[in-house]
Parts: sequence; C-alpha cells; structure tokens
Amino acid sequence: MGDKIKAVLCGCGGICKAWLNPIAGFNDIEIVGLVDIKIENAEKVKLECKLDKAVTGTDLKTVLKKTKPDVVFDSTIPLAHPDVTITALKKGCHVLGEKPMAESMKAAQKMVKTADAKKKIYAVIQNRRYMDNIIAYRDFIKSGEIGEITTLNADFYIGAHFGGFRDVMKHVLLVDMAIHSFDQARFISGKDPVSVYCQEFNPKGSWYAHGASAIVIFEMTDGVILTYRGSWCSEGMNTSWECDWRAVGSKGTCLWDGREIIKAQAASGNEGFFRPQKDFTIPAAKNLVHTGHAGIIREFIDCVKNGGTPQTICHDNIKSLAMVHAAVKSAETGKKVAIKI
Ligand SMILES: NC(=O)c1ccc[n+]([C@@H]2O[C@H](COP(=O)([O-])OP(=O)(O)OC[C@H]3O[C@@H](n4cnc5c(N)ncnc54)[C@H](O)[C@@H]3O)[C@@H](O)[C@H]2O)c1
Repeated sequence: MGDKIKAVLCGCGGICKAWLNPIAGFNDIEIVGLVDIKIENAEKVKLECKLDKAVTGTDLKTVLKKTKPDVVFDSTIPLAHPDVTITALKKGCHVLGEKPMAESMKAAQKMVKTADAKKKIYAVIQNRRYMDNIIAYRDFIKSGEIGEITTLNADFYIGAHFGGFRDVMKHVLLVDMAIHSFDQARFISGKDPVSVYCQEFNPKGSWYAHGASAIVIFEMTDGVILTYRGSWCSEGMNTSWECDWRAVGSKGTCLWDGREIIKAQAASGNEGFFRPQKDFTIPAAKNLVHTGHAGIIREFIDCVKNGGTPQTICHDNIKSLAMVHAAVKSAETGKKVAIKI
C-alpha cells in the first residue's frame, strides 16, 4: 500500500457526490476507477469531478483488475450491495459501503463472513453518527443528569419525492431510511435490540408503491423502550432527516430536534402534583473536524492505513440492520418478533 490509498467507487448516482466531494479534500485518497452499470453515469461523474485519470467501466471485476485498488467504495443501490462488497473483498479490497448492508439478513451475514475470511475491513456509511449535535445529545444522556434512560422516542416525518428505485421498493421507509434512525437510536442509548412490533402502511396519497410509513416499538437491552414513528410521504411540517427525539430517564427528559436544539429538564424537588423542574444547560457540542460522509470516510481510511476498527464495522452495523429486518418481519406477520443477531 503506497502513501495514497487507491480507491474504486462503484455506483455513480445521486449519493456519490457526498463521497467524492470530501474525498477531493483528502490528499491521501486517489480515485482510480469509477464503475456504474450505466456507463454514462460513470463518465458524467468523471467529467464533473475532474477525475481525468480514473478508469471507467460497467463491470466491477474488470475495473478492479485494471486498477488494483486498496479499497472499494460502494454507493450502488441496496440490492447490489452484497455482490459489489463480496466481489471487492474477494479481490483483496477493504470496503466502505452505503447503508443498508443488504436487503436480507442472510445476504448481510454472508458479507460479514467474507470480510472475516478475507481479513478485510467492511464498514458501512452511517453518516448520522458523525454529527456534532448527536454526540452532544448522546453525551448528555450518558452523563446521568436525567437518570437512567428508560424510553427513547423518534419521529421522522418527511415528504420526499425521489423518483427512482425508492418509488418501487418494498418496505421503502424501513429498509432504505429507518436504518439511519435505528442506528442513531443504538448510538444515543447505547442499547441493543431485543424484540420489535411494527405496523407498516402505505397511506392514502402515498407516491410510493409500498410501505412509506411505519409505527415501530422496540424493546432494547436493560428494558429500554424505543418507539419510531416515520413517514416518507407526509407533506408539511417536516422533521429533520435526523428525527425529532425524546429521551426519558428515571429523573428527567432530554429533547433533540435533530438539528441545533437540545433541551433537558429534571425534577428539582419532591413536593407538589407537578414537581418543580430545573432546566439544564447542555454542554456545547464539540466541533468534529469531519462530519457526515467525510467523518466516516476519514475514519475508515485511517483504519485501513494504521489498523483499528471503524465504529460502523459490519459486525456492529448488522445489529442495526437486524432491527430493520425484524421490523419488516413483524409488519408482514402482524406479530412481535424476537431479534437475534
Ligand atoms: N447515507 C445517506 O445519507 C444516503 C443518502 C442517500 C442514499 N444513500 C444510499 O446510497 C445508495 C445509492 O443511493 P442513490 O440515491 O445514489 O441511488 P441512485 O439510483 O441515484 O444511484 C445508484 C447508482 O448505482 C448504479 N448501480 C446500480 N447497480 C449497480 C451495480 N450492480 N454496479 C454498479 N453500479 C450500479 C446505478 O446505475 C446508479 O447510477 C443506496 O444504498 C442508498 O440507500 C445513502
């Protein structure tokens, strides 16, 4: 491995600029190849991002043979993630891939096994862990000021008109979006999933083919209950993409609007129908050097170069994916589902 990490990016669609823009600012990563089943997408990105030396192609194996990269960045659609990841791992590359790992647990488990067998890092983009305010929120809850966390509620209401693969995807909200919120919930609470009940629906007026809304109740470890109410087809009063959060602890409550506002209160006395409340001053968020995609890409590359494990390593991220697939199973069967990882 030279000073520069050689990378092939596979999947040159909507999200790939969220990768390539920060990568352009990292002088230790060289994009040596761009792959897309639609060659015009790869050529367009090559031109727009001024990646003059990058080899383009429609077949990952061929481009890997020509470029011999250290890492593959997978920004293809969810259905393609297992094939792209396993092909890259088998050719000796570390992989950083878009969420969700796969459209089934079986496929995701095979990806983890292949990474282990090939002794390569396979990590997943969960860019919402790399935000100043989610860390400030998590740290305040962890500080114990509101006691032990018992309940975590997340609301996600966004009217998003994507067009493309999402319009026809089954369980679109749970599989393509809720993975972020479920992973955030694990990050915020430090708890892992135990069981789930999910009611999924496609409301009147939905412009998606399937499952644009869901109400989900998880039991997490230590008896914590997590609720998620979400919709991708609700017009008006959008929440943030990061959800609107309420964490209830044994002594108080902490809110985060998914943007800038974090507020907390706890009882300050033992008298009265409503106990007197004190407001907390939340410690200012520490400014991360790299946020979002840039944050996880930087962490991944540092681990490839120096050793170490990215926090979104597949062995951990599969727990968030298990929440998604158990919620899907509950929605399909109408039953509460135990979550085994
Ligand atoms: N982390 C985030 O915040 C975030 C945001 C949006 C999308 N995403 C994820 O990024 C991925 C891509 O989403 P998008 O919105 O860019 O989709 P998109 O449809 O705009 O782009 C996907 C691209 O992959 C190409 N492709 C499909 N199968 C391929 C294969 N087998 N080999 C090579 N190329 C292939 C398509 O031709 C297309 O150009 C999805 O997994 C999605 O969930 C993540």
